[in-house]
Amino acid sequence: MELKRLAVPAVTALLVLTTGCTGATVQGRPGASGLRDPFFPRAGNGGYQVEHYALDLAYDPADGRLRGTAVITARAEQGLSSFNLDFSGLKVEGVDVQGARARYNRTGSELTVRPARDLKKGEVFRTTVDYAGRPKPVVDPDGSEEGWITTGDAAVGVGEPVGSMGWFPGNHHPSDKATYDVTVTVPDGYEAVSNGELRSRRAVGEGRTEFAWHSPEPMAGYLATVAVGKFKVSTGRTPSGVAVYNAVAPGEAAGSAAALARLPEIVEWGSARFGPYPFGSAGSIVMPAQTLGYALETQTKPVYSGAPDEELVLHEVAHQWFGNSVSPASWKDMWLNEGFATYAEWLWSEDRGGVSAQRRFEAFLAGDTGVDRGAGEDWGAFPPAAPPDAAHISDAPVYYRGAMVLHRIRQEVGDGAFFALLRGWAADHRHGNASTADFTAYAQRLTGHDLKKVWDVWLYGAGRPKG
Ligand code: ARG
Ligand code: ZN
Repeated sequence: MELKRLAVPAVTALLVLTTGCTGATVQGRPGASGLRDPFFPRAGNGGYQVEHYALDLAYDPADGRLRGTAVITARAEQGLSSFNLDFSGLKVEGVDVQGARARYNRTGSELTVRPARDLKKGEVFRTTVDYAGRPKPVVDPDGSEEGWITTGDAAVGVGEPVGSMGWFPGNHHPSDKATYDVTVTVPDGYEAVSNGELRSRRAVGEGRTEFAWHSPEPMAGYLATVAVGKFKVSTGRTPSGVAVYNAVAPGEAAGSAAALARLPEIVEWGSARFGPYPFGSAGSIVMPAQTLGYALETQTKPVYSGAPDEELVLHEVAHQWFGNSVSPASWKDMWLNEGFATYAEWLWSEDRGGVSAQRRFEAFLAGDTGVDRGAGEDWGAFPPAAPPDAAHISDAPVYYRGAMVLHRIRQEVGDGAFFALLRGWAADHRHGNASTADFTAYAQRLTGHDLKKVWDVWLYGAGRPKG
């Protein structure tokens, strides 16, 4: 009793003190408009980190209009008088911060938000952006399209590297990962699919159905997706119990069946090779052929443009460890995604009694396309850890020479240490970010080998290595 009476004034005093600080004394400054990524300097924003995105979307395939409310929960890393979100195209109808109307303005793909009062360092704050319009593709420096893509009455939002800003506002750089809730309302008869697990599917009246998807593990914005279409949905589980959700455009169902049937086995194989599958579910979104010029490893449910083959499913599932759980620190580190996913293909083949990784490595060195068609590509054009510019981060050297870097390490350290390295790397950086320098340091430390020559020649060296 005595204790309680004493405690109350103490708490009150503390409260007064805290409010005193948030009032007149906080002097925020603007958050940076970009994170100075070597290839996409304006991507992402400084001064805060997002913890959670709650996206509430309504899409009508008949007119291509998207209406969205994004509730972004973030933590201020400095006192903030204003901060930026990456957002392009769609019309902003209003922004509020902590329930108070905020001023905003837009220049290019930067949406600058000025809250009614400055935010203090460490404060967790909630920003709500209402927006609407007809979202469009975002053309990236290599000429590929991301953002919002439609084909017939189907649509998909994809984001690598900078397309996510075309369909939702956010801190769109891979270094800021957050959890997501994505709720999508579509006309009855359509399916709406997103990352993670389906929490509910319900009729909401006026001929509409609402799908609520939840991603409890951190996700980089470029891996977020929403697909709307008259998909055929099938669900199941892998032998170890990972939930599987496949949504397939009806015209691609027959062509996809064989590869998608392998998905459970691929997830199990990856878990054995790389360590526990990093997410609560797996799956696929198969869009009509030619929707995109590529497939994308969107978290838990890769997006395919037309029916994938087994190797492509393997590649995108391998990204769940390498790229999605362990995400690149910058877009210059893309080989940590693509080199690893490509090497996973080599391992899958080897483990199943097909061409060995060593044989494939030799075929690449010799340009022998009879073993692997990729061997005919210009994989030596530049070092994988140093692409010349943003237009080349998805080129052959990032994939194939990236895989060859891993094979060179394996040759140096032997199978035991090499597979321990793959598993250790995935475990150590699980749900985080890592750079090339992190990898080289980690590889040397874990294997106890001096790998400087491999880095100098294969990872960073100019010219096509001879072996
Ligand atoms: N990360 C995708 C994959 O390897 C490919 C994305 C290609 N995007 C691009 N803009 N070229 O599965
Ligand atoms: Zn890939």
